Amino acid sequence: MKEEKVRLLFVCLGNICRSPSAEAVMKRLVKDAGLGDRIEIDSAGIAGYHEGDRADSRMRAHAARRGYVLDSISRPVCTEDFFDFDLIIGMDHRNIDDLKRKAPDLESVEKIHQMTEYSRNKLYDHVPDPYYSGAEGFELVLDLLEDACAGLLEFMNLSLSSNPDN
Ligand code: 4NP
Repeated sequence: MKEEKVRLLFVCLGNICRSPSAEAVMKRLVKDAGLGDRIEIDSAGIAGYHEGDRADSRMRAHAARRGYVLDSISRPVCTEDFFDFDLIIGMDHRNIDDLKRKAPDLESVEKIHQMTEYSRNKLYDHVPDPYYSGAEGFELVLDLLEDACAGLLEFMNLSLSSNPDN
């Protein structure tokens, strides 16, 4: 039976703080679970103002302290993303509204979810933008992402094992 890949796209505003971190956290969880050949992971931004940039140096430094290497390069979300990815996961309510506005059809809208939907610790209903925050904002992003990505992996493990086509 052919094993289809599930493709995940994490999205935030600039694609230099939250979504590159989500990408790195999820890649590590997926690798540790031995699912690296089943799940593809990428990230993008609503806005293109940081296109071509590496992740924010503060975000990279905080992530590195937890062993994550943020190696993605910022790019804006494009129309093809809505066809290429199975789940498109935004970090806050504004990301979700913007993604819905960009979605080319109804099927694409159904792919849009918010990161905190998968949180196990339900203290936050979004992943706050850390750009103008201090160190605690970057640490909070990583705390929320580690929790929600673990929840997302649990959710995906269930759907991967219950779908006979996968
Ligand atoms: P991100 O954070 O959406 O998590 O990548 C931000 C990055 C840049 C800006 C805002 C948020 N900015 O205004 O340039």
